[in-house]
Amino acid sequence: MSDVLPTIPLDTSDSLAVLEKSRSTAETFGIPLAVLLEITHRCPLQCPYCSNPVELDRSGKELSTEEWKKVLSELAEIGVLQVHFSGGEPTARKDLVELVKHASDVGLYTNLITSAVLLTRERLGDLADAGLCHVQISFQGIEEGLADRVAGYKGGHRKKLEVAKWTRELDLPLTVNAVMHRQNLHQLPEIIQMSVDLDADRLEVANVQYYGWALKNRAALMPTVAQLEQCTRTVEEARERLKGTLAIDYVVPDYYALRPKKCMGGWGRQFFNISPAGKVLPCHAAESITGLDFESVRSNSIAWIWRNSEAFNRYRGTGWMKEPCKTCEFREIDFGGCRCQAFALTGDAANTDPACALSPLHETIFKQAEREAEGETNRFLYRNFAGGTLEDENGA
Ligand code: SF4
Ligand code: FES
Repeated sequence: MSDVLPTIPLDTSDSLAVLEKSRSTAETFGIPLAVLLEITHRCPLQCPYCSNPVELDRSGKELSTEEWKKVLSELAEIGVLQVHFSGGEPTARKDLVELVKHASDVGLYTNLITSAVLLTRERLGDLADAGLCHVQISFQGIEEGLADRVAGYKGGHRKKLEVAKWTRELDLPLTVNAVMHRQNLHQLPEIIQMSVDLDADRLEVANVQYYGWALKNRAALMPTVAQLEQCTRTVEEARERLKGTLAIDYVVPDYYALRPKKCMGGWGRQFFNISPAGKVLPCHAAESITGLDFESVRSNSIAWIWRNSEAFNRYRGTGWMKEPCKTCEFREIDFGGCRCQAFALTGDAANTDPACALSPLHETIFKQAEREAEGETNRFLYRNFAGGTLEDENGA
């Protein structure tokens, strides 16, 4: 979903760390074992780092209930084991219980990635009865003031706490997803404690990755180097202290790294997601790369698309690489980093991800990040279908 930043194998996300752990026969491009389904882009929240594309799919373009059911059956048939219902906000779809039930009937393990604000106790119970296996709830902070401001949704934080409690009462496993940035990193120790208090199994500490909406909001979100170093220390200490109580996934922002992340586990190797309109995508941000033609579940089988789609094959493996990646000893380790970030920052998705210290642009971008992190810009551009709304000066 959008306010959950995927912990991309990332991440992704966000959730996608789960995908990474359940990786498929990636090296031979076998069908991934877990797939992200963005069943709608509609969402009551307006998070400024939303992982959805800036051009959102409107509800009229969404796959119908029957089309999603067909997708679920097809996924089960080709060997997928796990689906993540995401968005936007997946609970905005009235047919979610029916979709979860169908997924369960065809043998898929189901995870709901949600902001939780639209759920009632009764509907969560219906989802559990339909076979829902796991719930992941995003949190924007530790207290209402900041959390509701980041989400652009009043009353959201309180509701999330309530739904997290219901989740555990229904005996469903819970993951807390916390997207971290300059304006909330100081709350990390309390977010860790909140996760323990909510009896979550897992906490995803996902630093914002800067493409799509987050790139538009980079100046308001970029953390300082000192904040990140403190964040890493906090995570390391908590992992040790909470061993056996809370598992903590940690995604670092790669602007300050020397090597880029192996985004999506490598383009078209371990992951795909399906957009609200039925496009099969190598990553949730792939549509931000212009000039790629993505196939739809409406016109081809998913297995065919995975193997033959020009968009998947364009950046698969290492054959497409330019220097410095082309002859780099790490090319089969990180696959040149993130294609979406390379496109967003250099205009060519085949360039080395500037997060890499060997990219000619790395130094410039690192310095820019440092300047932005020390800057005064705190106002958000909130995510919406109108292309974004700037937060007013009073933070409302
Ligand atoms: Fe990875 Fe390319 Fe950087 Fe080498 S040059 S470390 S392959 S991104
Ligand atoms: Fe990294 Fe698209 S987000 S490849």
